[in-house]
Amino acid sequence: MENFMFQNTTKIIFGKGTQKLVGEEVRNFSNRILLHYGGGSIKKTGLYDEVIKSLKEAHIEVVELPGVKPNPRLGLVAEGIKICRNEGINFILAVGGGSVIDSAKAIALGINFNGKIWDFFTGKAKPEKAAPVGVILTIPAAGSESSNVTVITNEDGLIKKGFHSDLIRPKFAILNPEITFSLPEFQAACGACDAMAHVMERYFTHTENVDLTDRLCEATIKTVIENAPISIKKTNDYNSRAEIMWASTIAHNDILSTGRIGDWGSHKIGHEISAIYDTAHGASLAIVFPAWMKHALKDRENVFKLYQYAVRVFDVDPLFASKKDIALEGIRRLQQFLKGINLPTTLDDINISDDMFEKMAEKCVQFGPVGKFKRLFKEDVLAILRLAG
Ligand code: NZQ
Ligand code: ZN
Repeated sequence: MENFMFQNTTKIIFGKGTQKLVGEEVRNFSNRILLHYGGGSIKKTGLYDEVIKSLKEAHIEVVELPGVKPNPRLGLVAEGIKICRNEGINFILAVGGGSVIDSAKAIALGINFNGKIWDFFTGKAKPEKAAPVGVILTIPAAGSESSNVTVITNEDGLIKKGFHSDLIRPKFAILNPEITFSLPEFQAACGACDAMAHVMERYFTHTENVDLTDRLCEATIKTVIENAPISIKKTNDYNSRAEIMWASTIAHNDILSTGRIGDWGSHKIGHEISAIYDTAHGASLAIVFPAWMKHALKDRENVFKLYQYAVRVFDVDPLFASKKDIALEGIRRLQQFLKGINLPTTLDDINISDDMFEKMAEKCVQFGPVGKFKRLFKEDVLAILRLAG
């Protein structure tokens, strides 16, 4: 096991009706805030009215910035920063999914910074402070509600990149599974896949003696596999929604990374697809992850972990064939699961041809090879895209 430091400071407020507590929570930070949200789902569901009521009761003044799109853009972040500066605002409440939360985090980084915010993403600048961010989560997926990451797409060059800093970990996250009842099936499925992918990125490691976190990872993925199909079919099933919601937070709150070095190559390739084709993040991972696994399996040193995954997560008989064939069966069962929740599992499924493979592979490794379990150079990324074709 590797040495590690673990501190996740996000206060989680979980359960029925918890959105009503938002005013009280916000009051601990500010009485004037930016309310940031997406394309309008929160208005349709009535969540917006509940939030405004709670904020009013707590005497919080609200300036609004709606319009965050999935795969959030730098342009809206710049607008948010301008509004906060002009209005003297130093707290952002994100009501939405990963896209809204990530946009809020990026605004929080920019309010008190005089340079170009994109410089944080390219490593040219380091932030010294960030405004606090609070969250009401509406889709269990990205784990951004308690992660230290923001992922933004720069329209200039269509570059989708993540930036990590403990400064942007949300101060609180309100998680009410009932709020997710209104999710379209496709979004719920994408969310389940993203949560699984966050665990798998951590699971595939060459760090040895990580039994506890291996088992925690397996339990989290199995929980998603069991509950995602139920929650997608029975939209108002609180218990399965609750399991998925908590699993997707745990998948990305860093407890599962303790003492081990994760991979993250599949996410990097997924971002290239989303940057160019605006593909939903979870769908990009449903396509890339199985292809990445097949490619990783070509190296002898990677076989055991993929074999262990097949046996422990997908219950493949450990003696039914060679370790490599058992690993392949695990990948087949993963794809079958993803298809079962109606996700695309090939690029062809979403009408993406090989036209941009070269460009995607080049962009993916422009700052150097990606992935730790399986180090990926341009040729590897191309091979994975072809396997995903
Ligand atoms: O915009 P609205 O109208 O709210 O609709 C959204 C959006 O269209 C809809 N939705 C959300 N909650 C709903 C709902 N519709 C009905 N009822 C509800 N309760 O769902 C759509 C997708 O929302 P989005 O926020 O994009 O989804 P998700 O949470 O999957 O976030 C994806 C983004 O997060 C990034 C991804 O790259 C992508 O940009 N990630 C962020 C991470 C992080 N910060 O730690 C880690 C992840 O790996 C990921 O990269
Ligand atoms: Zn993800």
